[in-house]
Amino acid sequence: MHEKEIVDKTLAELGGATPEKVLARFAEVSERFDKQVAVHSADPENWRIFVLTWTGRKGGVLSLITDNWLKPAPPELKRVVGQELNKLKAHVEAVLEERRVEIEAAAEQAVQAREQIDLSLPGVERAVGTRHLIRQTYEELQRIFLSIGFSVVEGPEIETPYYNFEALNIPEHHPARDNMDTFYIEGARGGHVLRTHTSPMQIRTMEKQAPPVRIIVPGKVYRRDNPDATHGYMFHQIEGLAVDTDITFCDFKGTVEYFVREFLGPQAKTRLRPSYFPFTEPSAEVDATCHVCGGSGCRVCKFSGWIELFGAGMVDPAVYGFVKYDAERLSGFAFGMGVDRLAMMKYGISELPLLYQNDVRFLRQFP
Ligand code: PHE
Repeated sequence: MHEKEIVDKTLAELGGATPEKVLARFAEVSERFDKQVAVHSADPENWRIFVLTWTGRKGGVLSLITDNWLKPAPPELKRVVGQELNKLKAHVEAVLEERRVEIEAAAEQAVQAREQIDLSLPGVERAVGTRHLIRQTYEELQRIFLSIGFSVVEGPEIETPYYNFEALNIPEHHPARDNMDTFYIEGARGGHVLRTHTSPMQIRTMEKQAPPVRIIVPGKVYRRDNPDATHGYMFHQIEGLAVDTDITFCDFKGTVEYFVREFLGPQAKTRLRPSYFPFTEPSAEVDATCHVCGGSGCRVCKFSGWIELFGAGMVDPAVYGFVKYDAERLSGFAFGMGVDRLAMMKYGISELPLLYQNDVRFLRQFP
């Protein structure tokens, strides 16, 4: 490095063994220092190296001058070299310190400028999510049934044919399997199916628990349906089951009517229509007065005044046989609602796919 060129040699080698020459040498070094200070103080890394170049204990310019100029100087020059060296040292140290303070202040300022908050800038708004309409509907349904003593259980979406069909009184070649055709998974012990309804949890619950039973079962179910405006390969159900020693058809009807009024409003009326399910007897479709026209007839209810809500019925005694419940002593009712259907009906949604496309323009309407 050229700062060190002349200080690598002794004064004698430089041919300057007179006091005047000594002063000139020191002046030259001092001048170089002053020039270099300005150049190197801009960049922190350069600055660090620059400081070491001058003040480093081993090989720094100041210590080289001590070793090469002062120590070997003839006695008559020692004094002046020593004086000049002290002056140079004092100068270098003072300037370096001055610069150090300036550099640190500038760095501090830069950090502050970077971190300063500009209150006039528009804020960063975080979009707040909402619960999906299906979830909201589930919560509403659960609120209603929890308020009359039901509790929530959940079960597997991958079921055995036994729980999905047989134990629900649907034997292998029963025609009722047709409209619940589903996805079969081959494998050991007769394979598995994606459950076609939440009813298997009736069986699993009664197997595990002695009566009385009062449960609802929210969950996804699967069917081999062709997708259209109201069908998909998956939808959401909520199952209900109440079994005890003294449950009558009146309890069934009262519970269903309570539910309809809570869900659709006090003006809604309920109608039970005969139906068929292998695991309930008698079975019914629960209808409610059309929420759009109030029962007078409109396009939504196909001018009947009624809207079909869900399937239900009194538990078929045959089912108790599969779970070792005493069919002589016990009775109960069950229902299975399509949650997507209920949500579409209540909120006037005509296309099922809207519920699954997760388009925020749609979802935002149900905050
Ligand atoms: N599991 C039936 C279905 O999915 C609905 C149902 C449940 C009917 C309980 C009666 C009792 O269609």
